[in-house]
Amino acid sequence: METPESAERTQAFFQQRQAAAVLKHAILKRYLPPFAAKTGSTSIDNRVAIVDGYAGAGRYDDGAPGSPAIIADLSHAPALRSKTIEAYFVESHRPTYARLMQNLQNDAPDLHWTAWQGELENHLPELIKLTQNVPLFLFLDPFGHGLAFDTIQDLFLERPTPNPYAPATEALIRIDASAIWRTRGVARRPTGYYGREATLHRMDQTAGGTWWRDDDPGTPTADYLEWFASELLHHTCQEYRCWGWSVDVRQRPDRLPVYYLLFLTRHRDGMDTFGEVLSKSMEEWRRSVLEIEYQESLLADDINDEYARREEMLAAEWHDQLRENILALLDEKPSFQIRQELSRVMGNAAGLARSMHLRAVLKELYLEGITQSDSKGDIYAKRVIRAV
Ligand SMILES: C[S@@+](CC[C@H](N)C(=O)[O-])C[C@H]1O[C@@H](n2cnc3c(N)ncnc32)[C@H](O)[C@@H]1O
Repeated sequence: METPESAERTQAFFQQRQAAAVLKHAILKRYLPPFAAKTGSTSIDNRVAIVDGYAGAGRYDDGAPGSPAIIADLSHAPALRSKTIEAYFVESHRPTYARLMQNLQNDAPDLHWTAWQGELENHLPELIKLTQNVPLFLFLDPFGHGLAFDTIQDLFLERPTPNPYAPATEALIRIDASAIWRTRGVARRPTGYYGREATLHRMDQTAGGTWWRDDDPGTPTADYLEWFASELLHHTCQEYRCWGWSVDVRQRPDRLPVYYLLFLTRHRDGMDTFGEVLSKSMEEWRRSVLEIEYQESLLADDINDEYARREEMLAAEWHDQLRENILALLDEKPSFQIRQELSRVMGNAAGLARSMHLRAVLKELYLEGITQSDSKGDIYAKRVIRAV
């Protein structure tokens, strides 16, 4: 629903891209090409559908790309030349929609695209029909609350169940952190104030139940948000019959998340690719945070040196962590497959480290004679074997 407040937010949003948007866009920019290349290689007529349900203006006022410009760019990707990418955009705010149309006309002359003005909810039946039997990536990026949990669940479950021949169904969904902590505040206040039930009900719809208030662990806000995001991911994966990641997106490392991105897939490859993409996107985000830090403090040191120094320190930390985690697993069992134990192997470095960091640790353990398995080939499929 469009309100004066949400229209104001939309206008402010497109003035300047912030670090949180850098992460979201880096993920889209890096994930969509391999998704389209993979799923479009076996789909009927090599079709792939991408839905940007809360599209915005396409570009920021300074020309930086928003999600529609990133999607439009897929038509230039050499790996996608033989694929037919179909993009569907929905935007409710009239002036923003007008800018979206103008930007798409410039940015997407070679893409098959359709853009509707209105609420996503009203265009869903048509979208579902148009993308039937086509691999689908759904990007849902609302301010505040978006589609209800049950609506997205129906969409997932109505599409063919995952099997090697079913068209993929994947999603990246933004859940605003402020909606979570504000509504939690309402839930914990005494009853009797006007609008309380409607506010709580709206969060029930987003969360797919009342678990977020019934089982509130009573922890401070930061811990509560973490709990909420991990429970929501668990609940979603169970009900939609898929796998997923929850990414907390912050303006700065020391601030509360501004939103969470839920990534959902029904394919193992989607999980592996997303892990790689997330790690590289986090690098981009750290660089952008550092640039803002430099701008604000008027630091004159060389930003490239500082960035390289920080990245080296992080890589060393992850290396030690991964090594420790793998050694702990090898203490328990003579061998294991990385993919089967991924969450324990990665531990706190999940979403930060990626295959190249893992490969370096496996190589070191092999050269030290601790393992008899090397570090070559598909790292996720690798079986790590203790030396006897
Ligand atoms: C966070 S912004 C989108 C940013 C854009 N996805 C990007 O990454 O560049 C959310 C947009 O959704 C629009 N919107 C809000 N409610 C909507 C609805 N029910 N259906 C479609 N669009 C909506 C807003 O006007 C706003 O432009």
